[in-house]
Amino acid sequence: MARLSGKTAAITGGAGGIGGAIAQCFAGEGAKLAVLDLNGDGAADMAASLEGSGHYGGAIDVGDEASVNSAFSAAAEALGGIDILVNTAAIAGAGTVEEMPVEEWDRMFHINLRGTFLCCRAALPGMRKKKWGRIVNFASEVANRGNPGLSHYAASKAAVIAFSKCLALEAIEDGICVNTLSPGPTDTTMLSGIDPEVIAKLVNDLMPIGRLGKPEEIAAAALFLASDEAAFCVGATLNANGGAYLQ
Ligand SMILES: NC(=O)c1ccc[n+]([C@@H]2O[C@H](COP(=O)([O-])OP(=O)(O)OC[C@H]3O[C@@H](n4cnc5c(N)ncnc54)[C@H](O)[C@@H]3O)[C@@H](O)[C@H]2O)c1
Repeated sequence: MARLSGKTAAITGGAGGIGGAIAQCFAGEGAKLAVLDLNGDGAADMAASLEGSGHYGGAIDVGDEASVNSAFSAAAEALGGIDILVNTAAIAGAGTVEEMPVEEWDRMFHINLRGTFLCCRAALPGMRKKKWGRIVNFASEVANRGNPGLSHYAASKAAVIAFSKCLALEAIEDGICVNTLSPGPTDTTMLSGIDPEVIAKLVNDLMPIGRLGKPEEIAAAALFLASDEAAFCVGATLNANGGAYLQ
């Protein structure tokens, strides 16, 4: 039997590389999807392309409270509730601490951390009513490893890990498992602005597996955390990173 049969799932950043792979994976496992993204057309296209019927695609700005609340209301109405939330929506960027404009620092936290908080808050009441839920938040291996030029991104992702641990302890009483998935460098447009030589060096220096991750490999890890099989995982961080960071 399909592992998410009868479940509904909202994926933020669902028009992106990893979010899109998760939407495809979950739909293939029988879930009904709400694909949400700042790129509303991309979200609608992704929803229309998924296996099965009854999927929903729409626009959301995860950093904006009103946008999050209205997108989650529309998604819950379209699907009949949200059992699983996967928060992949995020931005990346680069800049040393001394050169970084404060606006860039704030933007990173606004989308990556506040966005995760707002989407969790919007999805929780429905999960509590059903006494079952799964939330998969997204960090990054740089949150643990550190990397010059990524202080704002890495700090925002470390904050997502801490946030998820606290929320996990608040939510488990209602059968809601909150966990974090922390990928290593993965082949999506998030890396597309980086010089291929820099990527090759990163793989060589950092990745014992000798290659970037594939979005489908991250989706497989998300599937586990979204399923009944993750019932004993509470506030955990799953590092899917080809050995880039070991814990
Ligand atoms: N690709 C990597 O190497 C890598 C490594 C570690 C962690 N991650 C994390 O994995 C997750 C997915 O990354 P990806 O590689 O698929 O990136 P991506 O850039 O392909 O996708 C990100 C998606 O988020 C959407 N988005 C951006 N801002 C938004 C907003 N304000 N509201 C709603 N949607 C918004 C974008 O439109 C895009 O579709 C992110 O949380 C990222 O930080 C990625």
